[in-house]
Amino acid sequence: MEDFSGYPIHESHFSNSFSSLSVDTETLQKQIDELASFSDSPSPSVTRILYTEKDLLSRRYIKNLMEVSGLSVWEDAVGNIFGRWNGYKPELAPVSTGSHTDAIPYSGKYDGVVGVLGAIEAINVLKRSGFKPKRSLDVIMFTSEEPTRFGISCLGSRLLAGSEELAKQLKKTVDGQNVSFFDSAKSAGYVNVEDLSTVFLEKGSYSAFVELHIEQGPILEEEATSIGIVTAIAAPASIKVNFEGNGGHAGAVLMPKRNDAGLAAAELALAVEKHVLESGSIDTVGTVGILELHPGAINSIPSKSHLAIDTRDIDEERRNSVIDKIYQSALSISKRRGVKLSEYKIVNQDPPALCDDLIIKAAESASQELNLTYKKMISRAYHDSLFMARVTPMGMIFIPCYKGYSHKPEEFASIAHIADGVKVLALTLAKLSLS
Ligand code: GLV
Ligand code: MN
Ligand code: MN
Repeated sequence: MEDFSGYPIHESHFSNSFSSLSVDTETLQKQIDELASFSDSPSPSVTRILYTEKDLLSRRYIKNLMEVSGLSVWEDAVGNIFGRWNGYKPELAPVSTGSHTDAIPYSGKYDGVVGVLGAIEAINVLKRSGFKPKRSLDVIMFTSEEPTRFGISCLGSRLLAGSEELAKQLKKTVDGQNVSFFDSAKSAGYVNVEDLSTVFLEKGSYSAFVELHIEQGPILEEEATSIGIVTAIAAPASIKVNFEGNGGHAGAVLMPKRNDAGLAAAELALAVEKHVLESGSIDTVGTVGILELHPGAINSIPSKSHLAIDTRDIDEERRNSVIDKIYQSALSISKRRGVKLSEYKIVNQDPPALCDDLIIKAAESASQELNLTYKKMISRAYHDSLFMARVTPMGMIFIPCYKGYSHKPEEFASIAHIADGVKVLALTLAKLSLS
């Protein structure tokens, strides 16, 4: 590793020596396990929701690790956390990496976490090797990639990407308990949260962004491939629907007299499945992940129902045509059942994102130099990368996870696979930093 103590370093010189990069797997595994203990559900599940006590503990944990690694740490108005390793050309746009640590209810301990702890470890790996970055390297922990609390996915990265629409929407956003986004952020210590435009990044603020993540699908494990290099991220959308009927007594109101909001929701859920399958493509998916009935009593006809629908595709037009059909079904079900369609709201309808060729090439040559097998693939899950792509060239590195499980407690990635991902990330960052 003496090769790295020199300054500056020529790329060909350093890349030959990087086959011996070493990851501190024991410490990294310990950190993953410690972070998993900040959870509002019992182990092995993890639940960590935006601005709750457990989210704040995880933020403090990450900031501390960044400081221990010698990074200069700051947070923006919504709590996106940044840790910078200054390059020897600080006037150049930095390279960035990172992911999220919030976790949906009853999920696992690797989603997002591998890309935050792994990024800090990638910096440590480079520091131990003696590497000196030319462009500064930033590690980012994004606020609320998951939509759990406010129904908005990738809240922090959407704002970083300059979403005026979201900034406006957040002024009137409340959670399920009617706590406003602003109040929740302020009680978490983000007192300047109303200054949302301060979060926006200028285009060109970064020269590149790379995210390390578990695949959340089975391909890498099935094919015994160490690394996935993402070429594009599928287009996600989510919709909120409310129906209102007359409710009434479950014994006394005869069937022909009912306007059952619960059955309208059930019918719409089945319609979502039908429209998705009708697309004829295996790449079209749709999920009704939330279905709530009011008042929720066995002997009361539901007077209100609420659905949250998630639909995605790698083909944006095809995904949009599914959304149109879902809307037509919601209208016809409401008419036929005599229930009111009291809300039909497309919460987000995002386009897909393409990964940058130069970042793909850097990750490919990093994998080759490290003698790791890799394949190019699409990300069907969304990530903060989808939004970072709006302001900077973007790339993603995947590692295998057990049976492709994710968003459930059985989610698992071996520390050996994580270490491979960290090495590829470190080498990719090094290459991008010198470019
Ligand atoms: C991310 O959590 C996703 O749902 O794709
Ligand atoms: Mn997730
Ligand atoms: Mn994730």
